[in-house]
Amino acid sequence: MKTRITELFEIEHPVIQGGMHFVGFAEMAAAVSNAGGLGIITGLTQRTPEDLAKEIARCREMTDKPFGVNLTFLPGFAAPDYPGYIKAIIEGGVKIVETAGRSPEAYLPAMKEAGIKVIHKCTSVRHSLKAERIGCDAVSVDGFECGGHPGEDDIPNMILLPRAAEELKVPFVASGGIGTASQLAAALALGADGINMGTRFIATKEAPVHQNVKDALIAASELDTRLVMRPLRNTERVLNNAAVEKIVAIEKEKGDATTIEDIAEYVGGVYPKIMSEGTMDAGAWSCGMVAGLIHDIPTCKELVEGIVHGAEDIIRNRLAKFAS
Ligand SMILES: Cc1cc2nc3c(=O)[nH]c(=O)nc-3n(C[C@H](O)[C@H](O)[C@H](O)COP(=O)(O)O)c2cc1C
Repeated sequence: MKTRITELFEIEHPVIQGGMHFVGFAEMAAAVSNAGGLGIITGLTQRTPEDLAKEIARCREMTDKPFGVNLTFLPGFAAPDYPGYIKAIIEGGVKIVETAGRSPEAYLPAMKEAGIKVIHKCTSVRHSLKAERIGCDAVSVDGFECGGHPGEDDIPNMILLPRAAEELKVPFVASGGIGTASQLAAALALGADGINMGTRFIATKEAPVHQNVKDALIAASELDTRLVMRPLRNTERVLNNAAVEKIVAIEKEKGDATTIEDIAEYVGGVYPKIMSEGTMDAGAWSCGMVAGLIHDIPTCKELVEGIVHGAEDIIRNRLAKFAS
């Protein structure tokens, strides 16, 4: 399948694996890229730029296909060493960066000068337009269904994607809630040039996470995610568990007066415990509503090819019939 996204990133299939904290290691990115999609290493999971440089080198040993690095620009004052991470990306010869969170504007000149293509993840049309204006090459449009941070507008992809298509000139991928062939076909129909998936890629054979995490995704339904940190205007969609129930109770009691300190023990530093050790109630971890559509643990190749070939079949057979 050829789209503006496959052309831009020189990949076979228009399927991207979004950055995921403590999931997006070299093994994950290489498996997705080897499957013909675009795998992405999560930059900030690596504690230092030197660690990221090593992770990039490790990924290069596992694939000769293009892969990217995610740089999440966090809110807050103690900024990570972003110039150092960007230096590691440039020196590692990585040509694609997925940015997320705050605007990447300050760091774009350095990346553009190094010939890096930047796809910025946005949860609204206005942020997507800003990304286009400042020179991003593409946008990942992340709907309310998504795992992780859906922003504060609460617009689902059935509205957000066609709105993005009305306004954007640069190519965009549909992100959030996606995991099946019919959803790729739908995303293309709504104006996207491909898809970005997070949660669905965690339930694959190669995903370097504890089996408990994969089992939790199989067990979960579309009703099992919760929104936390809304009072902090840092909303995150997570899988419900004992820790999340405690957060929800605190936020219900304290309302808008909730502070990060009130919930810190359930959200701070919990990812390694969950993703690597499989302690599933250790805290809140990002998970999308697409959990309800996850029923198996395929290889990345089986997943990506199944989605793309399934979408082609839907377009050629099911949809073409309606047009005649
Ligand atoms: C466990 C997990 C961790 C994530 N960590 C990050 C991250 O560090 N940076 C980022 O930009 N997005 C992160 N995301 C969001 C994904 O890149 C992607 O945008 C999102 O998962 C898409 O929604 P979906 O899960 O419904 O496919 C994370 C998602 C999950 C599920």
